[in-house]
Amino acid sequence: MDCLLVIFGGTGDLAHRKLYPAVYNLFLSEQLSQHFAVVSVGRRDKTDEEFRQDAVEAIKKFSRPNSGTDEDLNAVVSRFYYYKLDISDSYGYVGLKEYLSRLDDRYGTQGNRLYYLAVAPEHFKTIVQHLKSAGMVLNDGLSWQRLIIEKPFGSDLSSAIALNNVITSVFSERHVYRIDHYLGKEMLQNIMAIRFANALFEPLWNNKYIDHVQIISSETVGVENRGPYYEKAGALRDMIQNHMLQLLMLTAMEPPAQLDTESIRDEKVKVLKSLSEMTPAKVRRDVVRGQYGGGYIDGKPVVGYREESRVSPFSNTETFVAMKVEIENFRWGGVPFYLLTGKRLPEKFTEIVIQFISLPEVLYFKELKGLKPNTLLIRIQPREGVELYFNAKKPGVKNEIIQVGMDFCQNCAVDAVSPDAYERLLLDAMKGDSALFTRWDEVEYAWRFVDNIAKVWAEEEPDFPNYPAGTWGPPAAKELIERDGRKWRMMG
Ligand code: BG6
Repeated sequence: MDCLLVIFGGTGDLAHRKLYPAVYNLFLSEQLSQHFAVVSVGRRDKTDEEFRQDAVEAIKKFSRPNSGTDEDLNAVVSRFYYYKLDISDSYGYVGLKEYLSRLDDRYGTQGNRLYYLAVAPEHFKTIVQHLKSAGMVLNDGLSWQRLIIEKPFGSDLSSAIALNNVITSVFSERHVYRIDHYLGKEMLQNIMAIRFANALFEPLWNNKYIDHVQIISSETVGVENRGPYYEKAGALRDMIQNHMLQLLMLTAMEPPAQLDTESIRDEKVKVLKSLSEMTPAKVRRDVVRGQYGGGYIDGKPVVGYREESRVSPFSNTETFVAMKVEIENFRWGGVPFYLLTGKRLPEKFTEIVIQFISLPEVLYFKELKGLKPNTLLIRIQPREGVELYFNAKKPGVKNEIIQVGMDFCQNCAVDAVSPDAYERLLLDAMKGDSALFTRWDEVEYAWRFVDNIAKVWAEEEPDFPNYPAGTWGPPAAKELIERDGRKWRMMG
């Protein structure tokens, strides 16, 4: 855990919104080593004092409410340093190396480094290669150097392979920590526990008892100020390739042989390998894309995607994707998984809906047509918890059946605040635990799946915009599930 956290892009948005508040909260919960300091690397002129002032403001703005005192804040930022570097200047790295060694002496960090790439992806290669030539990556048994890398990891399979080749020529796979911040969310870590620690669920977790699964990640925000990035990514690369497929893997994986990192990742990747191929015909039938037009969010007018700043007025980038996927293995054969994600939808939430089968039409199911099947709802955010819906008799003389729910909410109590995903992820990277990071083959198979869809879309002109902001996406998304006789949970 003793190390210097060296953040390339330390003056950027991610560092301010997520990384500095995460370091601060780790400090408050006494999880940081005494032998620890942060170095922000950026191209602007800045003194340590100016940087510390920025960090204090960021922490005050983005950290959890009511956390810590001014004294705590000063104590943590007294370990924050700023280093000016032009990342393409190889001599600059020699200076950085010496600077970090001096901090090693001061903090007793022994040459251990967590290099965090919070910069645009086009800079990943340059930085990694310069770190190598400056002799800043040793992993010689005396000290460790790890690389944390933000998404997007490439923009398709071939660019991801090229990037991976560069990275792994410098860092071995076990020293590479590819972030998917969803994996740091409390409830994602809970999915495995809910499944594998309950006799109530695990025996039923298959095509004999489950009718279908819905995985939904809905956002009210638009593209915000990220036009240039999002124009190239779109919802398919921005959400499906990573977060949504992670949710799918955790929901559908087989129990791992052990609870260790590699056993878990082995099982997750098998899910991706078992996904039925997205042929052009399947893409046209089972995948829907959308782009928001102007509309209303919380009663306030918002512009359409094409009117957002730094977005082309003719953009064909999708801000919404819904799809039906099938997993071709014995557990899941015949069970559709419906995925839906989009921006400028009516509500912000992420959830997994496990819909159990309807019982045969006998007894209550015969008498009371339309009786609802059991549902398990795993709420990822903002509310975190599990709800189970089942049928029971309505009190009274009539033989009426109603659906009742049992509800476990893990962040509803006033003082129950779950740590931010980045806290957990930073801490794990310091400890050298990569279970909550993405292994290369997960990235690879996710791109294989997504590329097939992107290829078909690239050949066809979409009719955008096709949903007003503040609605649940284009009508085709509703039809996608309704033609199978089912409904999206939020529309049911
Ligand atoms: C990011 C995407 O990875 O995840 C964003 O780039 C998206 O476009 C965000 O808004 C959603 O994360 P969360 O934690 O708010 O669900």
